[in-house]
Amino acid sequence: MQVPFYTPVREYHARKDEFDRAVQNVFESGDFILGEDVAAFEKEAAMWLGAKYAVGVASGSDALVIGSDILGFRDGAEVLTPTYTFFASASCLARLGAKLVFVDMDEETLNMDMRQAAEKVNSRIKGIIPVHLFLQPTSLQEVMDLARANNLKVLEDAAEGWGMESFVDSMWKKAGTVGNIGIYSFFPTKTLGAYGDAGLMVTNDEELYRKIKMYRVHGTAAKYHHEYIGYNSRLDTLQAAILRVKLTSTEKAIAARARHAQHYTERLRSIPGVRVQNVRCDAHPVYYVYNILVPQRDALAAYLKEQGIGTTIYYPKPLHLQPCFAYLGYKEGDFPVAERICKEILALPMYPELTDDEVDYVCDAIASFYGVQ
Ligand SMILES: Cc1ncc(COP(=O)(O)O)c(C=O)c1O
Repeated sequence: MQVPFYTPVREYHARKDEFDRAVQNVFESGDFILGEDVAAFEKEAAMWLGAKYAVGVASGSDALVIGSDILGFRDGAEVLTPTYTFFASASCLARLGAKLVFVDMDEETLNMDMRQAAEKVNSRIKGIIPVHLFLQPTSLQEVMDLARANNLKVLEDAAEGWGMESFVDSMWKKAGTVGNIGIYSFFPTKTLGAYGDAGLMVTNDEELYRKIKMYRVHGTAAKYHHEYIGYNSRLDTLQAAILRVKLTSTEKAIAARARHAQHYTERLRSIPGVRVQNVRCDAHPVYYVYNILVPQRDALAAYLKEQGIGTTIYYPKPLHLQPCFAYLGYKEGDFPVAERICKEILALPMYPELTDDEVDYVCDAIASFYGVQ
């Protein structure tokens, strides 16, 4: 049996007519830049998320740069960001001349260690980028309490956080909708994935919304009149059309991921040495990624590959040890949890179209690697 780590093709074949019709309509309209589907998707996504405003941009990485720029995370401002995350959660700061202040990860949630974040706050820290990794948000109550007490701006990196919820200010809120600005990635593997690069920025602040809309088109409100030195980062109409089709089934897709996660957990948690991730009680998870933490991780990955099973390592090296950030002066041993987890973590196939037999096949292979029948 072959179980790819990820494939968009199964979903395409299952809903081919809908996807074909959606892109055909865009071809017929010729409305490729900020066409009707973009505005419609922004409205539908904002409603689904429970945010006041949503603005489509070209990618999650662009959204982080634009958000950092608008919130003033630049020119020497110091900002907290986790060392264990995708590169773009930190490169957005470096690109704008902000100073990255890395924070270690929490062993249980694999998100930013908020206790350490609180210890690092001082008068020079202007903001924080909580990243909602894999399956659950960073506790947004802890983030907002810290931000409110210290006047920090919050840029939520919810690139992986589509649909995740956090209990904050006495209600459940979608990850990405609580800070000053939240961003999402629609990279194809994501819980809501496009057919190429795409991203979204959300806010509940009208002034920030106005700025984001301008920043994505060269800082203009009116054509060729530039209020800011902005960017060219628009959500492509074709991608918006695809995303509108997928948004209609996003809850079903999230439920299928949850079912597979439960199946994995039931099968894997009894294998000695295999650790599965737990969910905090103030979080409603969405399984974008299903990780296990294991001894002999690389040997297991090689064994699974031989059995036709795709896996991925998110992430093999924390950011404080990346060559491009050597100038910050961090060294091995500075963030021991992140340095250990990146040697143990392994992501298993996780997408709605997986079959129960495939999940069983993956679990059987892991059990057999560790000598369990
Ligand atoms: C945590 C995180 N931040 C940012 C990004 C960047 O998003 P994109 O690939 O859409 O640029 C990603 C995704 O790839 C991500 O996982």
